[in-house]
Amino acid sequence: MHVTHLSLADFRSYARVEVPLEPGVTAFVGANGQGKTNLVEAVGYLATLGSHRVSSDAPLVRMGADRAVIRAAVTQGERSQLIELELNPGKANRARINRSSQVRPRDVLGIVRTVLFAPEDLALVKGDPGERRRFLDELITARSPRMAGVRSDYERVLKQRNTLLKSAAMARRHGGRSMDLSTLDVWDQHLGRVGAELLAQRLDLIATLQPLADKAYADVAPGGGPLALEYRSSVGAGVESARTREDLYEQLIAALVEVRKQEIERGVTLVGPHRDDLLLGLRGMPAKGYASHGESWSYALALRLASYDLLRSEGNEPVLVLDDVFAELDSRRRERLAELVAPGEQVLVTAAVDDDVPGVLAGTRFAVSAGEVERL
Ligand SMILES: Nc1ncnc2c1ncn2[C@@H]1O[C@H](COP(=O)(O)OP(=O)(O)OP(=O)(O)O)[C@@H](O)[C@H]1O
Ligand SMILES: [Mg+2]
Repeated sequence: MHVTHLSLADFRSYARVEVPLEPGVTAFVGANGQGKTNLVEAVGYLATLGSHRVSSDAPLVRMGADRAVIRAAVTQGERSQLIELELNPGKANRARINRSSQVRPRDVLGIVRTVLFAPEDLALVKGDPGERRRFLDELITARSPRMAGVRSDYERVLKQRNTLLKSAAMARRHGGRSMDLSTLDVWDQHLGRVGAELLAQRLDLIATLQPLADKAYADVAPGGGPLALEYRSSVGAGVESARTREDLYEQLIAALVEVRKQEIERGVTLVGPHRDDLLLGLRGMPAKGYASHGESWSYALALRLASYDLLRSEGNEPVLVLDDVFAELDSRRRERLAELVAPGEQVLVTAAVDDDVPGVLAGTRFAVSAGEVERL
């Protein structure tokens, strides 16, 4: 798929901007702080309903405005769709597809698919487990948009279960009546059902991604691998050998039973996909804490390229977004990456200087300066 038009109103630094886009490579070039990333961030938002830079919507709304609108025309094969998202921080966001407002924002997922690689991705390797969980879950949702529902169900169940545990913990501390544990049993089952589904998807994704990531790393950093992706679950080491969803459910329930006493003491849910991590190994060592800066960067890039390969191989080619990545690479890696991505259906690149965009990525160029986006 590709985006044929992007239109922003009160999004980040843009009061209004209209950007016609074409398939192939488009580069946005301009000095620091001119609004290049803001453009591709908006495209990424359409695909994930979130920003790759911030965890809340408030910074996405232009300072002084109270809502932002992202509109995009999207073409997949013969089909064109117009999607519109209105961001209302503190209130519910709204969505329209082909001008119909009978849709939830979540229904937009799957129309635009992106793989976005940006300097922030270093946190995939160096950051907290939450970064890697988000990576997995966003990719799961890109593969299968209905997983957005499963993710939000999980969040909801977790929140409710935590509330229950917190009140149990309070009651315990203040010598109150002990809680009716059958209510907790019911929440365990909910958490088990939805959690098992999420676990199953993550495990399947990791197994599929592993060889692709290894290959991608060999492409960008020849001889530097191998990579090993390993799911580290709070549920226990058994999850990786679980054969069925039912197996995972049983394991999750058993793990909850095991920690129940601690959970009631501490008032939080201690096991489940929200406490898991993806271990990134490089040559038999964990990348986090061991890999060099350049290796970590190549690792993050390999994860994104593998995601791109995966989504492409499963149909509906995503838009590839490379935000400010060429400046970080030496010239050989830069050329290598450019050759890999050049044939993509749509590739959006940002760079501070023209020379950072490799020659093979000749395509449409826009100059971005003080909120003006001008085709060169
Ligand atoms: N909510 C907002 N309202 C108004 N301006 C904003 C908002 N959020 C960000 N900006 C402005 O947008 C600019 C940053 O834009 P962006 O991140 O797209 O820059 P860039 O061109 O990618 O720069 P760099 O080359 O440094 O990455 C900053 O000047 C920032 O002040
Ligand atoms: Mg930028």
